Amino acid sequence: RAEDIPVITIDGPTASGKGTLADETAKALGFAVLDSGALYRVTGLAARRAGLNLDDGHAVAAIVPTLKLGFRDGHVFLGEEDVSARLRAEATGLLASQVAVHPPVRQALHDLQLSFRRLPGLVADGRDMGTALFPGADLKVFLTASAATRAERRHKQLISKGISANITSLREDLEARDERDKNRSASPLEPAQDALLLDNSDLSIEESVTQVLDWWQQRRPF
Ligand code: DC
Repeated sequence: RAEDIPVITIDGPTASGKGTLADETAKALGFAVLDSGALYRVTGLAARRAGLNLDDGHAVAAIVPTLKLGFRDGHVFLGEEDVSARLRAEATGLLASQVAVHPPVRQALHDLQLSFRRLPGLVADGRDMGTALFPGADLKVFLTASAATRAERRHKQLISKGISANITSLREDLEARDERDKNRSASPLEPAQDALLLDNSDLSIEESVTQVLDWWQQRRPF
């Protein structure tokens, strides 16, 4: 049964390092990964391309079943097009946050997200993995880092890709996105009651992965 397949959820704000932590944890355990933000991002991108009004939740939700989504080797395809790089752009993150406020959009992506649960296990990252999608998850992590740390990391990431960026405006953008994600009524960003909090402001990626794997060992002694 799907409910018996182990799940680790990693929720947290924008640029907290959820994606990297989820990928590394999954690699260590041989688990699959669900990057739920990518689904909201691809929905936002497709809605914008279709010229939809992003405030119209029903119109945006209606395109979800028509999307020819493909997931191969960590890349996301829309039809034949590899949209992975477009999805990571800050502008697409903003589109994602806008469409994600609508309950019909969240509903339209619900079953697709659950379908990522496969043996031997899943690491799911997002905003509501532990609260809404996988409330019975075996381990729930809520990852945070200070806004200054997150802006700095995002800045470094962009510079290393040859994209110029301003650290002050990056910080403003991610704080604005956090506010929208926290204050919406549908599945807002908040820790599940049984989530373990991990502040990685002063931790390396390896240290964060080690912490999650330690917690996992404590939960699932084999
Ligand atoms: O994790 P991310 O930056 O790729 O997410 C982009 C946006 O998508 C985020 O600002 C809010 C939305 N999102 C969501 O509402 N629920 C999720 N589980 C994942 C992302």
